[in-house]
Amino acid sequence: MISAPILDTRFRLTETVALDLAKSYGTPLYVVDEKHFRERIRTYLTAFRAAYDRSEISFASKANSTLALVKIAYEEGCTIDVASEGELRIALAAGVPGNKCHLHGNNKQVEELQFALDNSIGHIVADSFDEIELLDGILSNEQRASTKIVLRLAPGVDPVTHAKISTGQADTKFGFNIADGSAERAAQRCLELGFNLYGFHCHVGSQLLDPEAQRSGGELIAKFAVDMKDKHGYIAQYLNVGGGLGVAYTSGDQPMGMHEYCRLVVQAVNTALEGTGIDPILGQEPGRSLTAESGVTLYRVGVIKTVPSKALGQRTYVAVDGGLSDNPRPALYGSKYTVERVAPETQSSDELKNMTVSGKHCETDKLFDETPLPADLKVGDLIQVLCTGAYNSSMASNYNRYPRPATALLRLDGSHSLIQRRDSWDEMLAREILPEDLA
Ligand code: LLP
Repeated sequence: MISAPILDTRFRLTETVALDLAKSYGTPLYVVDEKHFRERIRTYLTAFRAAYDRSEISFASKANSTLALVKIAYEEGCTIDVASEGELRIALAAGVPGNKCHLHGNNKQVEELQFALDNSIGHIVADSFDEIELLDGILSNEQRASTKIVLRLAPGVDPVTHAKISTGQADTKFGFNIADGSAERAAQRCLELGFNLYGFHCHVGSQLLDPEAQRSGGELIAKFAVDMKDKHGYIAQYLNVGGGLGVAYTSGDQPMGMHEYCRLVVQAVNTALEGTGIDPILGQEPGRSLTAESGVTLYRVGVIKTVPSKALGQRTYVAVDGGLSDNPRPALYGSKYTVERVAPETQSSDELKNMTVSGKHCETDKLFDETPLPADLKVGDLIQVLCTGAYNSSMASNYNRYPRPATALLRLDGSHSLIQRRDSWDEMLAREILPEDLA
C-alpha cells in the first residue's frame, strides 16, 4: 500500500492483533514487540562484538524507559545509560544493579550524584569543571578510589541531523571541548584529585543517517586518548562513542546497517590507537536504533473533515484520539512518520489520498502532514504510526490534561501484557493542592 524502504525492518501490527489490543487496552496505545526489540539488541551486540572484542553496549534508557523494556535490554546483555536520578531509579526497579548503569547529565544535582554513589554506579560521565569540583567535595576516600569517572568530550564535529538533536559541535552545552584544551585540563584535574579516571566519551548527535560525524567523533576521542598517554602517561581503559544511529521513520530514511556501522566506527578508533599500547573497552550507548522500530502507536480516527486550503485547494483533516502529548516529535523536530490504516470498519479500497492527521489538542497539533491514507478511511478506523518505540512514551506529557497512553508489550508467545497503564484521573488530581482559603 505505502511504499516501503528497500528492506523494511520496522515492526507493524496485523489487523487481528490491532483490534484485540484496542479492545483490551483502548487507544491511543503504544505497542512494543518483544521479539523485534530483543532481535535489534542481539543484532547490535553481535555486530559490535564482531568488529571489536572488548565491546560493551549500554541501552540509552531515555529513548524508552518503560520498566519492562529496561529489564529486557539488561537481560539481553546491555548495561543501562541513565541521564537522571529518575532513569536510574527505573533501572534499579527493573533489577539492574547500580554498577551496571552509568550516569550522564550536564547539570547533575548533589542529591542525584549522591544517590548514584549510594547505589554503586558503574561510572559517572562528568560533563563540566563544576561537576569535577562538586565530585571532589562529595566523594569519600573509598569512593574516590572505587568510582569510575569518564569525561564527556565535545570533539567539535557537526553531524547532519536536526539542530535540536546535534551535540558534537564545539558550541554545545555538553562536555569538554578538545580543541580549546578544556578536555586536557579536565583530565589533568581528575588525575590531580586522585579520581579513578576510567576514560572518555562522546555523543555527537541523534538520528544520524550519515555516520561520518560518529566516525570522526570516535577517531577524535581515540586520538585524544593517545595524546593523554603521550603527554601525561595516562592510559584510558574505556572509550564510549555514544549513540546516534538513525532509523527508518519513513521510506525515505535509509540508515546504515548495524554491522556496517560498527565496522566503520571501530576502524576509526582502531586506526587511531594502533601501536600505542592503549587497548580500551569500547562502548556505545544506542537508544533509538534499539527500540524505535519495535514500536507503533495505535490511534482511532474520530473526525474526518475536508476544508478549503490556499495551498492545496482542499485539505482533509483526520483527527485521532491522541496528538502532541503522546508524540511531540513532529512539532519539535518536524519529524515525518509512516502512517497506515490497520483495521477498517468496512472493506478497504486500494485507492490512496493524502490526508493530514491531527491530534485532539487545543492547538494546530498537526501530527502527520499530507500523508497517504486509504480514500475510504472512516471514523472508527484504527491507524498505526510506525517507528514510535523511541522518544514517544518517554517524552509524553499531560498537556490539556490528557492521560498519557498505556504501553502494551507483544510477548514472544503471541500473547500481550500491559507494561505501563494509562494515567488515571486520580493520579492527575493527586498532585493538586487547593490552599485552605480557596477550598
Ligand atoms: N548517549 C547520550 C549521551 C545521549 O545524549 C543520547 C541521546 C544517546 C546516547 C542516545 O542516542 P540515540 O541512539 O537514541 O540517538 N528527543 C530526541 C532525541 C534526543 C537524544 C538525546 N540524546 C528525539 O526525539 O529525536
